[in-house]
Amino acid sequence: MNAEEMKRQAGIKALDYIEDGMRLGLGTGSTAEQFVRALGEKVAQGMKVVGVPTSERTAALARELNIPLTTLDETPELDVTIDGADEFDADLRLVKGGGGALLREKIVATASKKMVVITDESKNVETLGAFPLPIEVIPFGSRVTALAIQKVAKAHGCEGELKRREDEFGEPFLTDSENFIYDGHYGKLPDADALATALNIIPGVVDNGLFIDIASVVIVGTPEGPYLVEKS
Ligand code: 5RP
Repeated sequence: MNAEEMKRQAGIKALDYIEDGMRLGLGTGSTAEQFVRALGEKVAQGMKVVGVPTSERTAALARELNIPLTTLDETPELDVTIDGADEFDADLRLVKGGGGALLREKIVATASKKMVVITDESKNVETLGAFPLPIEVIPFGSRVTALAIQKVAKAHGCEGELKRREDEFGEPFLTDSENFIYDGHYGKLPDADALATALNIIPGVVDNGLFIDIASVVIVGTPEGPYLVEKS
């Protein structure tokens, strides 16, 4: 079974958490896309749901599939968010933001009663941090903000490069909220909980890709089919 098929199966498995009438958060990324496609089939068969997309990219896909969309202003309480992740650990802490949508993803997930994560086994890690930690930063004064990030990271046992993300033209990557992303190449995050809090009080930091105590289930795609890891 190839990686795409594992993602597809994880996306289909996530439909187990969806019921008629639900208000959903729709994640971003290649795995979340598989879920949105599976949901689109259910909607075509008559299922009634509304979704809040976590990115312009997901919004466009949902529109193409005729999935009714809403906003958090219209619908501030959601039942379930289904989204991917770049890493997860045994406590279901996540690193997210590889696709640059971490801010909307976190707002939507925390507006939901439940967050279900769809992944494959390559995302399961003992210690978070092998995947560079995305940090969304306001462009104004971003070099100053980056220096402050490195100080805070060092104080939390993280050493390594902090790189501003670029797009395919070598220009700064801009999020849907027109901010920069800095990726912290730290290798490991020895105290992810404290780091997540400390980063977010730096002026200029909008949010970081650590999702702590937000996910309650991870569906892990494998060649033998998906399995579940649930919050104990
Ligand atoms: C986007 C994300 C994605 O969920 C994460 O990058 C995983 O993506 P994929 O399923 O393509 O591996 O956080 O901001």
